Amino acid sequence: MAMKVTVIGLGYLGATHAVAMSKIGHTVIGIEPNQAKVDSLNSGRAGFFEPGLDEELAAQLASGRLSFRTSHDESSKDAEIHFICVGTPQLEGSLAADTSYLHSAIRDLAPYLSSDAVVVGKSTVPVGTAALLTEELNKLTGFEANLAWNPEFLREGTALEDSLSPDRLVVGVTSEHSEKKLREVFAPMIFAGVPFIVTDLATAELVKAAANAFLATKISFINAMAEIAEVSGADASQLATAIGYDERIGNKFLRNGVGFGGGCLPKDIRALMARAEELGVGESVAYLKEIDKINIRRRQRVLNMLTEELGTLEGKAVLVLGAAFKPDSDDVRDSPALEIALLLKKAGAIVMVHDPIALPGVNKKHPELATEQDLLKSFSSMDAVVLATEWQDYRQLDPSTIVGINNKFIIDGRNVLDVVKWQSAGFKVLALGKTIKN
Ligand code: UGA
Repeated sequence: MAMKVTVIGLGYLGATHAVAMSKIGHTVIGIEPNQAKVDSLNSGRAGFFEPGLDEELAAQLASGRLSFRTSHDESSKDAEIHFICVGTPQLEGSLAADTSYLHSAIRDLAPYLSSDAVVVGKSTVPVGTAALLTEELNKLTGFEANLAWNPEFLREGTALEDSLSPDRLVVGVTSEHSEKKLREVFAPMIFAGVPFIVTDLATAELVKAAANAFLATKISFINAMAEIAEVSGADASQLATAIGYDERIGNKFLRNGVGFGGGCLPKDIRALMARAEELGVGESVAYLKEIDKINIRRRQRVLNMLTEELGTLEGKAVLVLGAAFKPDSDDVRDSPALEIALLLKKAGAIVMVHDPIALPGVNKKHPELATEQDLLKSFSSMDAVVLATEWQDYRQLDPSTIVGINNKFIIDGRNVLDVVKWQSAGFKVLALGKTIKN
């Protein structure tokens, strides 16, 4: 049955969730204090690149079920569910997550909360946060508020699809009432066979942290193998394929390269370490420090390979292909590609950055970096090229069309290039995790 819900916080998670909830028939009020963001959403633009999202946003706005505003008003009072989707970024100068946006969201919501409405946190939080928020909400409202936790597992690039057909729904609840309401709001997905896992609050919070820690561990595991492969003549990509056939291991998230980035995996493993430390069990996830270090080392490895080839980085023109933390996204938060560009610049190289869609973000955040939107032009006068984000544009590029390059040398930082094709076009090709004969 259609319900009325609010979605608080309209970043990547919230905007996508609001559209998804409207698409399955609910009436949705999206709330976000940033007026420009609200105006953009109301005009059908999410404000970030996500395949298919703007089209679906426009369709849902046209349905009349979806609207956006900057704050709660009387219309929030009869909402049956309030989803909280605000960000929990890494705190400046600490590994921990900043949960202050959650507390403000709760404070703003309290005057409009009815006693039978359910507040559902979706943000990624340190375990124990939901219990604190429940206490705070009870104090603010004067009644026993229903607070539940429903972590989100969407990936950038497939966000809408992941929201509409998730692998699983996890709900942490403290009452039958909350569970009933959550079953109702997710009814179409449950009907379609999506597993619905009911837990307590702490488990639901920890499921998300654990899932991201596991994914980060898989990536750093294969990158650690890549380090060994590089000095032993083995091939880490073949190794991943071979171990991946074992169903207990699986072949996903075993692509070696310049490592993981984005607004989630790096900050989430750090927040888990910080929270475990606070709980007195820091040792349990101390290995995540190594996971983080292996990941960061891959970026430096690219610089070392370039130095070996060019003699020095000082004054050398290097093109970095990619700035987004992964393809099909314009997100440059904690991006390995962007970090490599910045490290190169720091080392004295003349850096040029290309990305099919993320350059506006790069120009805004790092005006010191030179950027070029035209892919073929970006190769002009370069002494070396680093493929750092595996956009289709780079995989499909015909290297024989590249002209004006100074030195035909490319490092495949994501192991996606057709090496023979690039070598036939006269390029010396090196890659991470394997030795290529040139
Ligand atoms: C990640 C999780 O995959 C989602 O399930 C989760 O919901 C989300 O974080 C979140 O916490 O909100 P996302 O950050 O969109 O999603 O990106 P991923 O697809 O996980 O990729 C993360 C990074 O790992 C990228 O930089 C990617 O290039 C890198 N990666 C991924 C590898 O280096 N190797 C791989 O095999 C896979």
